[in-house]
Amino acid sequence: MKKILIIGGGAMGSAFTFPCLENNNSVTITEPYSKVFIRNLSSKNKYHSALKINLPKKLKFKKFSDDLLREKYDLIVIALSLSGIDFIGKQLRNLNIKTPILVLTKGLKYEKKTKKILTISELLKKIYNISNISILKGPCLAKELARKNQTSVIVASKNINLARRIGKMISTKYYLAEFSKDIIGVEVCSAIKNIYSMIIGAGQSLNASSNLFQKSVMEMIYLTKFFKGNHETTLGLAGVGDLYVSAAGGRNSKMGSFLGKGFTFKTAKKKFMPNDTVEGEQLAREIAPFILKRIEKKKIPLMVNLLKTIISNKKLKIKV
Ligand SMILES: NC(=O)c1ccc[n+]([C@@H]2O[C@H](COP(=O)([O-])OP(=O)(O)OC[C@H]3O[C@@H](n4cnc5c(N)ncnc54)[C@H](O)[C@@H]3O)[C@@H](O)[C@H]2O)c1
Repeated sequence: MKKILIIGGGAMGSAFTFPCLENNNSVTITEPYSKVFIRNLSSKNKYHSALKINLPKKLKFKKFSDDLLREKYDLIVIALSLSGIDFIGKQLRNLNIKTPILVLTKGLKYEKKTKKILTISELLKKIYNISNISILKGPCLAKELARKNQTSVIVASKNINLARRIGKMISTKYYLAEFSKDIIGVEVCSAIKNIYSMIIGAGQSLNASSNLFQKSVMEMIYLTKFFKGNHETTLGLAGVGDLYVSAAGGRNSKMGSFLGKGFTFKTAKKKFMPNDTVEGEQLAREIAPFILKRIEKKKIPLMVNLLKTIISNKKLKIKV
């Protein structure tokens, strides 16, 4: 039995408790930010309002604190959204924790000082001096995982043996792990697929979306290589795998469909999705300053088009 701490009681952090517990680990979850999730996790029946399911009885909930982070674990899992990464970086920076850390968060960060885009693992290492980071990404809708629908993910680490040890700790019959050493490629793909699923969603017919899908994959390959990932990673679970699920059923592609119909981002958000987080929008705002200045626009016309649509709140110009 291994001891696992999950930081982040949102949909994904909570869904991740199912395979971890099923694998006979001792699992504690903590929530540093949202009052709603704290209420869910500390309630008697542990009903999770985002997943619409009761979490396992064996799951332990503890209040977030430095003391909790200092306890001994075999694995610490970060399942916060991108906006929580600087927060947890600051919290962990001074604790000198040697425990393996597994990051589920998807996204990229623009570092204003160096004017570079960093992946989350690079950010935690370079800015917050946190070592021993592995990542887990792939096509996984939290609601489906919590209902034990078969899911395959990819665990990436510079140390492939560590990735395999983590895989052993968390995988079950319905939660299968593949492994990779290409941390950068996996992180880049799993982030930019949120933007490309918006683009694919803009297609107003299956024919149009298929065309956009193929062109999105070509741009994803270009960007993965640009950031020094392996282009084969784009064709794996973190790339086309995750792109498929996001384009077929996520909030990004839903927003894309409104953009494709001619709405501006602000109007579509206010009118149709006022309470939804659109991760692709957050990422677009984060990376636009870099992408629009530093990458040859002809190589990634769809990305450039979507970034301009969001940051300038203009109508999408992709022909669909
Ligand atoms: N790796 C995977 O298999 C996988 C699958 C699905 C989602 N995800 C990723 O997991 C992350 C969380 O997704 P989710 O669906 O659980 O989202 P969610 O909105 O349900 O939960 C977000 C979590 O981040 C916390 N948070 C938000 N803003 C914060 C801030 N400013 N400071 C500190 N904490 C903050 C929330 O309190 C909550 O714990 C996203 O990056 C998502 O892309 C990963």
